[in-house]
Amino acid sequence: MTDKTHWNNIYNKKSPNEVSWYQPTPNISLTLIESLKVNKNDSIIDVGGGASTFVDNLLKKSYEKVTVFDLSENALNHSRKRLNQESEKIVWVVGDITGHKFESKYKVWHDRAVFHFLTTPEHQNKYIENLINFLESKGYLIISTFAEDGPLKCSGLEIVRYSKEELIKKMPDNLNLVQFQKETHISPAGKEQRFNYWVFQKR
Ligand SMILES: C[S@@+](CC[C@H](N)C(=O)[O-])C[C@H]1O[C@@H](n2cnc3c(N)ncnc32)[C@H](O)[C@@H]1O
Repeated sequence: MTDKTHWNNIYNKKSPNEVSWYQPTPNISLTLIESLKVNKNDSIIDVGGGASTFVDNLLKKSYEKVTVFDLSENALNHSRKRLNQESEKIVWVVGDITGHKFESKYKVWHDRAVFHFLTTPEHQNKYIENLINFLESKGYLIISTFAEDGPLKCSGLEIVRYSKEELIKKMPDNLNLVQFQKETHISPAGKEQRFNYWVFQKR
């Protein structure tokens, strides 16, 4: 089974609030993006945004240029349906972040629980190449992964857990760490999952 089929099956079988990574409101991501004080018309991309309500909240906060990118069209269709007419304000893109070529650059690149699925240096490097090519100079990366004491798998797939230092080491030298924080996420089944969040700024 390809990854795309895997993810489309997940979003076909489960509703968005049943998946283990579901958050009613992505509070940490929202607090972090608001703290950056970027302009409301700066371009923001939610990489592997799935069916997350991050996009709904960005619209509520009047961000004007939001792209949601995911491997699974089923995931994006959940969000489009939920947002109804508001969905027309969003750019929806189906693609693989390890190979996709964007048409323009982004001021903020948000990734919650996507990079950690890349388990080979080849895929990790391709992701990082895209990140560097399509993140504006002085732009921000908000990224979160399972922490060093988080689960070993997500959605039945192997993941890579990162401590604060391990992810800093993985990222290129032209990204400077500006914030770091931890979260204990409670899944819909009531399980605790430890996440780490980093904010980097590109030089
Ligand atoms: C654990 S979910 C997280 C979804 C969302 N970020 C959230 O916090 O609710 C991982 C998401 O990454 C997407 N994904 C996995 N591999 C991807 C890839 N190579 N390119 C783009 N999206 C990918 C999946 O379809 C899924 O929606």
